[in-house]
Amino acid sequence: MTEFAIICGSAGLEFATGFAPVTCPHSRYGTPSEAPRVGDIEGVEVLVLARHGVPHHLAPHLVNYRANLDVLSQLGVRRILALNTVGGIHPPAAAGAIVVPHQIVDYTWGREHTFADAAELLHVEFSDPFDAGMRQRLLAAASLAGIELVDGGVYGCTQGPRFETAAEIDRMDRDGCTLVGMTAMPEAALAREKGLAYGSLALVVNPAAGRAENAIDLEVIAAVSREGMRRVEQLLRVFFQREVGAH
Ligand code: HPA
Repeated sequence: MTEFAIICGSAGLEFATGFAPVTCPHSRYGTPSEAPRVGDIEGVEVLVLARHGVPHHLAPHLVNYRANLDVLSQLGVRRILALNTVGGIHPPAAAGAIVVPHQIVDYTWGREHTFADAAELLHVEFSDPFDAGMRQRLLAAASLAGIELVDGGVYGCTQGPRFETAAEIDRMDRDGCTLVGMTAMPEAALAREKGLAYGSLALVVNPAAGRAENAIDLEVIAAVSREGMRRVEQLLRVFFQREVGAH
């Protein structure tokens, strides 16, 4: 049983490249993005699952979020740390910033977004979509590691895979969103339905549409992601060192 899983996004996780795939349990919801891989980070056994598959081939609307959460839950996971790359709508969510979001607005559609089926009506409390304890432990680890984090952000989740129009970003801004990404939903809600603690580190890789002079540039995004993920990995090392100390 592995208590902790990291779901990584477009940016990937360098230190998980040596992790070995586990025998993947069967899921009635279909095939997960990959068989979760297991490894050790600073003495803590951790499962890693690449949301977009390896190599990256699943667009955000094609990810089987239900199968991913179902197999992690079957493997005994209780806590999930999601890594997300996002666009920044509002300062201080500038390119390169790492944000610990506290809220979500869901703009996705047509995704399989619940485990509730005809036989089961399932209403879950979701006022606070991110686990408070996980948020606090991430912030504490960052301050020990000397890594700057932005405490709080409203993650607006869009359908993708295209980026947004400038007017859509203006509307999201009026709705109170400070970040825009494509993957936190339905992932966060499915984690809640399974009773799993869910936290996110959102790496801002570009100013959202219409928020910079230049158009969104995929090469710039890739460079910002690479640099940002180095900081995320440093932070994760300190986070897991503290987890060992906590048990
Ligand atoms: N919009 C949506 N998702 C994203 C963006 C964006 O600008 N950048 C990274 N993921």
